[in-house]
Amino acid sequence: MRTLILTSGGDAPGINLILERFTHMAARHNTDAVLGARGSFAGLLDNQVETLEPTVLSPLAALGGSYLPSSRVPVLKEADAKDRLLARLDEHQIDNLLLLGGNGTLRNIPPLLRDWGIPVIGIPTTIDNDVPGTEMTIGHDSACNYAYSVIDNLKATAFALRGRLFTVETLGGNTGFIALAVARASGAQAVLMPEIEYDHQWLAERVRSAVLHDDYALVVLSEGVANARTIAEDLAQWANMRVRDTRLGHGQRGTAPSHADRLLAVEMTAAAHKALRAGQEFGIVAVQNGRVMLHDDPIGDLPDPTPDHDLYNQINGL
Ligand code: F6P
Repeated sequence: MRTLILTSGGDAPGINLILERFTHMAARHNTDAVLGARGSFAGLLDNQVETLEPTVLSPLAALGGSYLPSSRVPVLKEADAKDRLLARLDEHQIDNLLLLGGNGTLRNIPPLLRDWGIPVIGIPTTIDNDVPGTEMTIGHDSACNYAYSVIDNLKATAFALRGRLFTVETLGGNTGFIALAVARASGAQAVLMPEIEYDHQWLAERVRSAVLHDDYALVVLSEGVANARTIAEDLAQWANMRVRDTRLGHGQRGTAPSHADRLLAVEMTAAAHKALRAGQEFGIVAVQNGRVMLHDDPIGDLPDPTPDHDLYNQINGL
């Protein structure tokens, strides 16, 4: 079996472990080869293809990022993409693809490949945890842990010098799953998410009351919140308090994979490898009811995951 691996869209902690695990499993079958496209489908069409070796990948398995560069360039929409793609796969004698990516990638690309007769298994890799059909994506847990490492320090200084108001912006694109999870586990008194509108008078009152009762206020917000860029100035005005603001930025995405993400990466890679070896021509690996399984049908028609409103209300005291 000759498998080609591609990473598409944003990288996620755990991708290097997937690459290492898959090449290790392939090496046990002497007849198997694993190749990687540098730069996703754009790189593949440009013949940026290399053989992946477990000996090269092993030292990188515990690092964030991706040994295989990713890309967001939508080359598969180009008119001659199908013919060029099939020619490249033929040239490298590829039997099937392993595709690593987030919501946009896994919704749209596997069904297209299936229509073009290209066997593919997808693994959800994104810190955002917003892929339909799975309870968890690889990278989310690590991104949350990174946020705690910063927030724990903020809380230490908040305790040492009382009466201050802190905001922490997480990544998450146009979703707030990271912010919601992190706010809950770090004891923030408010969380702001792009999916749910908030009232600024309520927020001002909420942070003032937190400072009064808890000696500090912590607001966790997702980068996709409409006024995320100006929250420090806005909230300072609304609450009439100085705001100490922190943006986690892309360091949150490049962090090393956590224990939970390593376990998930190992389990999902094993499921993908098994399916490809069994000759399965289509599948998206997912977690359902806490167990790793395989969707046989495209996930494109499933609704986007929605945030837990009860949890949102609980954190915000609503
Ligand atoms: O992959 C998801 C994500 O990390 C989002 O959380 C974030 O908004 C986006 O990617 C950032 O993308 P880029 O690296 O292109 O700035």
